[in-house]
Amino acid sequence: MCGIFGCVLRNGPVVPQILDGLGRLEYRGYDSTGVAVIDNGVLQIRKDAGKIKDVVIRLKINEMKGSIGMGHTRWATHGAPNMINAHPHTDSSGRIAVIHNGVIENFMELKQELLDKGHNFISKTDTEVIPNLIEEEMKSDIGLTEATLRALRRLKGSYAIVVLSSLEPDKIVCARMESPLVLGVSDEGTYCASDAPAIRPYTNKVIYLRNGELATLDVNGYKIVKVSDGSSIERVPEQITWSLEMSEKQDFPHYMLKEIFEQPTSLRNGLRLQEKYVDLLTMFLDRGKEVFLVSAGTSQHSCIVGSYIFSKIARLTTYPVISSEFIEQYGSTVGIDSIVLAVSQSGETYDTLKAVDHARMRAATVLGLTNTVGSTLTRVSRAYVIQQAGPEIGVAATKTFTGQVLVLAQLALKLAKLRGKLSQDELDEYKESMQKIPGWVETVLEKTYDNVKDLALKYKDDKLFFFLGRGISSATAMEGRLKLLEITYVPSLAYPAGESKHGPISIIQKDTACVFVCPQGETHAEIIGSIMEMKARGASIISICEKGDEAIKRLSDSFIEMPKGIPELLTPIPYIVPLQLLAYELAILKGLDPDQPRNLAKSVTVP
Ligand code: AGP
Repeated sequence: MCGIFGCVLRNGPVVPQILDGLGRLEYRGYDSTGVAVIDNGVLQIRKDAGKIKDVVIRLKINEMKGSIGMGHTRWATHGAPNMINAHPHTDSSGRIAVIHNGVIENFMELKQELLDKGHNFISKTDTEVIPNLIEEEMKSDIGLTEATLRALRRLKGSYAIVVLSSLEPDKIVCARMESPLVLGVSDEGTYCASDAPAIRPYTNKVIYLRNGELATLDVNGYKIVKVSDGSSIERVPEQITWSLEMSEKQDFPHYMLKEIFEQPTSLRNGLRLQEKYVDLLTMFLDRGKEVFLVSAGTSQHSCIVGSYIFSKIARLTTYPVISSEFIEQYGSTVGIDSIVLAVSQSGETYDTLKAVDHARMRAATVLGLTNTVGSTLTRVSRAYVIQQAGPEIGVAATKTFTGQVLVLAQLALKLAKLRGKLSQDELDEYKESMQKIPGWVETVLEKTYDNVKDLALKYKDDKLFFFLGRGISSATAMEGRLKLLEITYVPSLAYPAGESKHGPISIIQKDTACVFVCPQGETHAEIIGSIMEMKARGASIISICEKGDEAIKRLSDSFIEMPKGIPELLTPIPYIVPLQLLAYELAILKGLDPDQPRNLAKSVTVP
């Protein structure tokens, strides 16, 4: 989604910090770049479609002066990606500029009203109504903050906005409703941005703005008020505990690869959850008449994995539901006895938050599992747990998938204990295995990366991939397929292997690449049958199997061997790692940037 960065400095120039901040938000996905500054009381704007580095050179943005300004990377929602639609947008007089992330639902009617009053519009965006509404309000001789408050009260929809005006050249006004915005304070100045890593080089003191709040920033700090009634809100800054290095690439060529290799560490952190939160979530899960696991994309795959673990070890039936379908599918039955466990790395995914809002409205208990402290999900959940994976910058979720699964497994284990569904020996065994997961993942990274590179070279020209697994491994297969699809754009399918003969098998031809996830365990005999079905039709078999699994290896054209002794229910964590690496390597061989896949954003904060 769009990236927002604003800052007011004691001593300029401000442009280097704006460009650095925008660079750190690139992972959100974007198509246009724009910057506004106030220099000697004059508002200046330069913007165009294109990547930051190209637009900066083309428009000589580095030459812009001034100690107050803002920058924007736009991900188009209304209007094509071009110069006119790029942000910032101004009012008709050109003195008030706004950058925006989100969608204004009632912009058509507001635009008509403003057109009738004589305002000019040049873009196709919904954003342009905002500076014009502020301009209209300022006609009543009120200041920028008050005029922005009044304008915001007219908006329906989602926004994070930053306003800059030559009429009050020493301040920035910013606000949020559903789209994220974080403030930062330092001795040098005051900042706002879509995400904390953009601010982290300048300060570790941040304030997470909440829905319906507006902040006015100047060199001395910030003042927060409620949009609804203008009342003041006191909020002291929080300390960011992760270092800048933790969110930078270090020696890795891409964030995705760095984050794949960070998994042993992030999983160790994921085993150090605060007990009282895990207990609280477990207690709610135990009480529900029905439990929905609501999420999108990779987080949904974690939920599918979770549903197997909850069922098998805690005897809890859960329903994994894609968040954008939740209201249609269960909106009229979810109620006071339902538990909705929303799983979201960002805690800001629009569809997931919408499902959660609906569930809350119908008195269901909402629980959250997220990686983002201060995110909307943490505020709307009755109880939540932070997965402790550290910032994930690559658009493709990797370490947050394995982290989510680990948290869900820990919840299931607690619940199994609470319900007396496992013997003490079984509980101890699972606990011990969970502690071994980071080490297993370390071994996989050390021992399989070279094989995966060979595999990628062998299959780099394949035009179609199938991913298949049985039981819990069908979710691993789905996640492996999503990784490949989103960063290499190679068409691919994923199915529970037993389902393939009900249709998908018809497209198998000689040499079609079939990736089988086949750990030892209850599903092992069945997966051998599925491999044979595909082999009989000429498919080329790539297996992820346990070390020394001769039965699988004999049937496979290529295989990756995994450590021995991993309980089947925990295999999704180590077994996804070679598939993450395979997707990464294939993207590199195709000359693609795995950190910034086309059309995708790290966190989807619009409908
Ligand atoms: C995963 O690689 C994707 N980038 C995407 O599917 C993502 O998992 C999805 O948008 C959900 O995001 P969330 O976990 O932040 O809610």
